[in-house]
Amino acid sequence: MERLQKVMAAAGIASRRKSEELIKEGKVKVNGKIVTELGLKVSANDKVEVNEIPIEREEPVYFLLYKPRGVISSVSDDKGRKVVTDFFSEFKERIYPVGRLDYDTSGLLLMTNDGEFANLLMHPRNEIEKVYVAKVKGIPQKESLRKLEKGIRLEDGKTAPAKVKMLSLDKKKQTAIVEIIIHEGRNRQVKRMFEAIGHEVIKLKRERYGFLTLNGLSAGDARELTPHEVKQLRALAMESTKKNS
Ligand code: URA
Repeated sequence: MERLQKVMAAAGIASRRKSEELIKEGKVKVNGKIVTELGLKVSANDKVEVNEIPIEREEPVYFLLYKPRGVISSVSDDKGRKVVTDFFSEFKERIYPVGRLDYDTSGLLLMTNDGEFANLLMHPRNEIEKVYVAKVKGIPQKESLRKLEKGIRLEDGKTAPAKVKMLSLDKKKQTAIVEIIIHEGRNRQVKRMFEAIGHEVIKLKRERYGFLTLNGLSAGDARELTPHEVKQLRALAMESTKKNS
């Protein structure tokens, strides 16, 4: 038995708080009857409807995918391109990505059917570290990399401080490999940060997400997270979200 708002959040309807509002507003039915009290607990057999639409309840599943380049971080694509859910076609659960990586970015992407977990991890206030390795055009000067570290003005505001490390450079080809650690997740953020210092990103890979790495996986591989990893991720997200609220 679980609280109604928790079941709704897990099904991806809305956050728990928003789900409570929906209940209070009389938008939620359990076994055909409108419920407006918040404490109600429901079992797997109870039929829950939100705005007359039955919610799908599934056992939560959690995966880590090594997304290859050339795959869309979505559940479908109108141009028929490969999407990240294609790697999970044998599962009956409706699995979707936690956030996104660009079509041409490879690396670590979490996948789940647990809406509350996904919302928690994508919360803008949480400070889970994401480690990217970028191959860029030209060889960035130390001062330019310092700008990325301090935070740089983009069209949607200044970026939070980042950690930046030059890993290698190729003088002949005029390219460099740079590691950058950020915790925000804005659209095309790493590429835009490098563009802002005049270096186009040629290749981008996310190597780490919090304590999770791609160790032992090749592009296109996925593995299930252990229950302990899921717990740790939740704790990490909640801790940093609280700290910043
Ligand atoms: N930053 C980007 O620019 N692209 C990604 O896919 C992820 C982070």
